[in-house]
Amino acid sequence: MNETVVLIGGGGREHALARSIAESDVALYACASNRNPGITALADGFEQLDETDSEAVVEYARSVDATLAVIGPEAPLAAGVADALDAAGIYAFGPQQAQARIETDKSFQRTFMAENDIPGCPDFETFDDMDAACAYIEEYDGDLAIKPAGLTGGKGVRVTGDQITKSEAIDYLQSETYDRVVLEERLIGEEFTVQALVANGEFRVSPAVQDHKRAYEGDEGPNTGGMGSYADSEDTLPFMEPTEYAQAVSIIESVVEALDGYKGALYGQFMLTAEGVSVVEFNARFGDPEAMNTLPVLETPFVDVLTAARDGEPLPELAFDSQATVCKYAVPEGYPTDPNAGARVEIDAESAGEALLFYASVDEREDAIYTTTSRSFAVVGCADSIAGAESIAEDALAVAGEEGLSVRHDIGTESLIQRRIDHMASLRQ
Ligand code: AMP
Ligand code: GLY
Repeated sequence: MNETVVLIGGGGREHALARSIAESDVALYACASNRNPGITALADGFEQLDETDSEAVVEYARSVDATLAVIGPEAPLAAGVADALDAAGIYAFGPQQAQARIETDKSFQRTFMAENDIPGCPDFETFDDMDAACAYIEEYDGDLAIKPAGLTGGKGVRVTGDQITKSEAIDYLQSETYDRVVLEERLIGEEFTVQALVANGEFRVSPAVQDHKRAYEGDEGPNTGGMGSYADSEDTLPFMEPTEYAQAVSIIESVVEALDGYKGALYGQFMLTAEGVSVVEFNARFGDPEAMNTLPVLETPFVDVLTAARDGEPLPELAFDSQATVCKYAVPEGYPTDPNAGARVEIDAESAGEALLFYASVDEREDAIYTTTSRSFAVVGCADSIAGAESIAEDALAVAGEEGLSVRHDIGTESLIQRRIDHMASLRQ
C-alpha cells in the first residue's frame, strides 16, 4: 500500500466513491461536514469538518500524509479546496475554482459554450437586472428556463410551460434576491447524463444514465437533487441511438479541449431533442445519484485513474461490467420543501441483500441511524437488465420499510421507461 487517498464529502455519491477507492490496496481517509456511516465503515480515519474550509481540509490531508485527494461535491470546488490541496502538493482529483465555474456559474457556462463554439448550446441571455429579466420573459416568444447563475443544489431552476407559467416565473424572480440569472430557450426531450473522467487534456467516458429530478412519481412536484437513476447494460439508454450518445461524447470532448487544465469528473447533462443533443448543464463532479450507477460497474480500478491523472500518464481505458443498474433514493417525508427528519433507518448493508446500500445524509446516533432533512440513503440493483436491477432495488426497499420516508418507486420500471421511449418517438415524428 503506497497511496493515501483523502475523500472530501459525505453523501451517497461519496459513499460510492469510498467503496471504489477501498477496492484498491490504499489507505482511505475521509472528511465531511456530516458523518456518513457507510464512509466511516470503509475509511481508516474520518474527520468531521467544514468541507468548504480549504485550510481545514489541507490540514487534515497533511495530517494523514495524503498522496491524493478526491473531491465529491460542488461546494468545496466552488470554495477553492482543490486549489488549496494542489498548492499544498496534494493532487486533487477535482477542478480548481476557475475551471469549476463550468458548474458554479451558469452564466460563465453558457458564455464559455458560445465563445468556444461548443455544440448544443441553447439560445440564452444573462441578466443582472431582474426587471429587465422579467421584461424579457414577458416578450420572449416561447418557453424559457429561468436559472439563477450561482449554485442552488439543483433546486433553483424553473421552466415555463412545464412547472410554472410566465407570470409565475416573473413572480419567482421578483420574490427571490438573485444577483444574476440566465434565461434560456426551453429544451424539450429526454434528459440524460454522461460522466467523464478528465486529466491532462484526456478524457474517458462512462455509459449514459437517466436521473429523475422531480420529487414525486410520474415526474410531478418540485425539483430535487435527484431521486434516483438508471443505466442500461450498454452505453445508451432505451430511448436513445448510439449516434446520439456519440454526439454527447463529442460535446464533452470539445469542452475538455476548450477548458484548459481541467481535472476531475466532468458531468454533462444533456437533452435529447427532436433536433439532436443539447446541453442542459455541466457539472464539475460526479452526479449524485448517477455516480451510484456508474462506479459499481466500473471494472477498471478507480485509483488507477487517479494515479495516472496525478502522474501525467495516459489515463487507463475504462472497462465497465455490462450490467444495468437502478438506483432509488429514500428521502425524508416532505422532501424537498418540507422535510421531516428523525425517522429511524431500518436497513444496513447486510439486510439490503443483493442491492448495494449507499448512505447519504443521515445522523448516526448511539442507538441507531436516523434521517435528516436531506436525502437519506440509496439502494442500487445491478443485473443483466434494467427490470432485473429494478426488482433488486425494490426488494431492498421492502426490507427498509417506509416509515417517515418517501421513494419514487416508478424509477426504472418498465412503464416509466416505455413512457420515455414513447415520448422520444412522438418528438421524432
Ligand atoms: P440544472 O440546475 O441546470 O440541472 O437544472 C435543473 C433542471 O431544470 C434540469 O435537470 C432540467 O430538467 C431543467 N432545465 C434546465 N435547463 C433547461 C432548459 N434549457 N430547458 C428545459 N429544461 C431545463
Ligand atoms: N443528479 C444531478 C446532479 O448531480 O447534479
